[in-house]
Amino acid sequence: MTDVDEKVMYDETVTILENQKVNAQYYKLVFSSKRISRRVRAGQFVNLQVEDSSDPLLRRPLSYYRVRSERVELLYEVLGRGTALLAQKKRGHKVNVLGPLGHPFSQTLNGKRRLLVGGGVGVPPLLFLAEHAGREKHAPVFLIGCKSKGEVLPKRELSNVKGEVLYATEDGSYGQRGLVTVLLQKLLEKGDPKSWFIQTCGPHAMLAAVMKLARQFGVEGEASIDERMACGVGACLGCVVETREGFKTSCVEGPVFSFRDLVG
Ligand SMILES: Cc1cc2nc3c(=O)[nH]c(=O)nc-3n(C[C@H](O)[C@H](O)[C@H](O)COP(=O)(O)OP(=O)(O)OC[C@H]3O[C@@H](n4cnc5c(N)ncnc54)[C@H](O)[C@@H]3O)c2cc1C
Ligand code: FES
Repeated sequence: MTDVDEKVMYDETVTILENQKVNAQYYKLVFSSKRISRRVRAGQFVNLQVEDSSDPLLRRPLSYYRVRSERVELLYEVLGRGTALLAQKKRGHKVNVLGPLGHPFSQTLNGKRRLLVGGGVGVPPLLFLAEHAGREKHAPVFLIGCKSKGEVLPKRELSNVKGEVLYATEDGSYGQRGLVTVLLQKLLEKGDPKSWFIQTCGPHAMLAAVMKLARQFGVEGEASIDERMACGVGACLGCVVETREGFKTSCVEGPVFSFRDLVG
């Protein structure tokens, strides 16, 4: 991973190398791009055009999950028409990607210990971050929330993650029973909560609960706000987020915002 100029982006038609299910929740899509792979940071995303016809019209934003040399990997959940069509693509099919887009997560944390909290479609960018965490004094801790054991990522997908990964499942079939915030609260209650720096991405309700706990324990952090997006480049204002400095576009000024900037 190299330093990036966040204003540089590429519009590229790429060939799919792999597109397969990795568990009950996610598919993994792999393509090769020399230019896009060189300029990528955790928390950034590509805006992917699923079909070269006008249906579906809008591109779909997907975070970088892993980059190995020129190989770019995305991890996605099928939620609607766009991702269902994407899941049908085979090796050799072409898709158009615009990226890298967006403002990434912070790499250096001023001596604080990294605490990653993810759920649903928010897990992939945090996995990227967990693989690329620098040489920090204390290894990061990654808390993942999901519905049940079938959504737990296979070990091979976590093999390069630095630090500890803890799961919470809503039905209690794996790890802690309940929401990921149960794990978060337990961790913050131990030791000095202010030694942590939280980086989080997931459903809006999860982000609100994480930020509420962070405020309660006086912990700083950043959240990636996955608003619905259209253009992905700041032109349509379809993805605005309310911040203390007024409305900002999630696709250009975010998706990663400091807890201090976010309202609510
Ligand atoms: C910056 C960013 C990064 C993202 N990274 C990933 C990723 O790495 N992997 C991944 O699987 N998804 C990611 N998403 C979400 C992904 O873009 C949506 O799931 C996708 O666009 C849905 O398209 P669709 O046509 O399948 O569903 P649609 O028919 O458009 O929507 C179906 C349902 O999907 C859900 N949905 C749609 N958009 C979002 C969203 N932005 N966030 C949460 N739920 C949504 C809603 O419940 C909606 O009702 C990201 C979104 C953003 C904004
Ligand atoms: S998606 Fe168009 S401004 Fe953000």
